[in-house]
Amino acid sequence: MEEFILIRPTSEYASQIAEYRQEFLDAGDSMDGTGPLRRIENPEEYINICAEYEDLQTVPSHLVPATQFLFVRKSDNRLVGMLQVRHCFNDYLEKYAGHIGYSVRPSERRKGYAKEMLKAALPFCKGIGLNKVLITCVDGNIASEKTILANGGEYESTVYEPNEKEYLKRFWVEG
Ligand SMILES: CC(C)(COP(=O)(O)OP(=O)(O)OC[C@H]1O[C@@H](n2cnc3c(N)ncnc32)[C@H](O)[C@@H]1OP(=O)(O)O)[C@@H](O)C(=O)NCCC(=O)NCCS
Repeated sequence: MEEFILIRPTSEYASQIAEYRQEFLDAGDSMDGTGPLRRIENPEEYINICAEYEDLQTVPSHLVPATQFLFVRKSDNRLVGMLQVRHCFNDYLEKYAGHIGYSVRPSERRKGYAKEMLKAALPFCKGIGLNKVLITCVDGNIASEKTILANGGEYESTVYEPNEKEYLKRFWVEG
């Protein structure tokens, strides 16, 4: 059984964060659960911004505090996934994006890592007072839906998100 650690981004992982980002760009894939990684090319800048986003004193006023995690395989210290926990809701999160976003790098998919990563994040959620977390996925994203269901997700509703023009399925998972 593989072992993993769930840790905040640090300089030790700067080059792997850049590789992770590039892998998603090359695949034309969605960097879900990475916070501002889409728009920030420099990994050191990204690491600093993640720290700012976690702190109520420094998070930009249009965002809620959020904790960024790296999911790292212990055997080779490889960054395989990323997950972001939003500490509370704003209107958009409450309706559409939920408390948690995540992704697994394309070269490491279909090994059960997303299921493990979400499971590993739930104690942290409980620790910050989130006894139930809202997780949403685009209707038709089978891999994400199965990840949520494998962690006890209970379907609540489907909503239409007008900006992306897509239907999102909303699930609640006990922290
Ligand atoms: C969704 C995502 C995180 C899944 O990562 P993963 O590590 O490959 O997922 P897992 O290996 O843990 O698989 C979870 C389940 O989905 C299934 N699955 C994974 N990829 C699949 C695919 N392409 N098609 C169908 N089923 C798939 C697995 O078989 C597994 O099902 P099981 O519970 O029946 O065994 C990954 O595809 C990803 O990063 N996608 C882009 C970002 C994204 O969509 N994030 C979710 C936003 S809500």
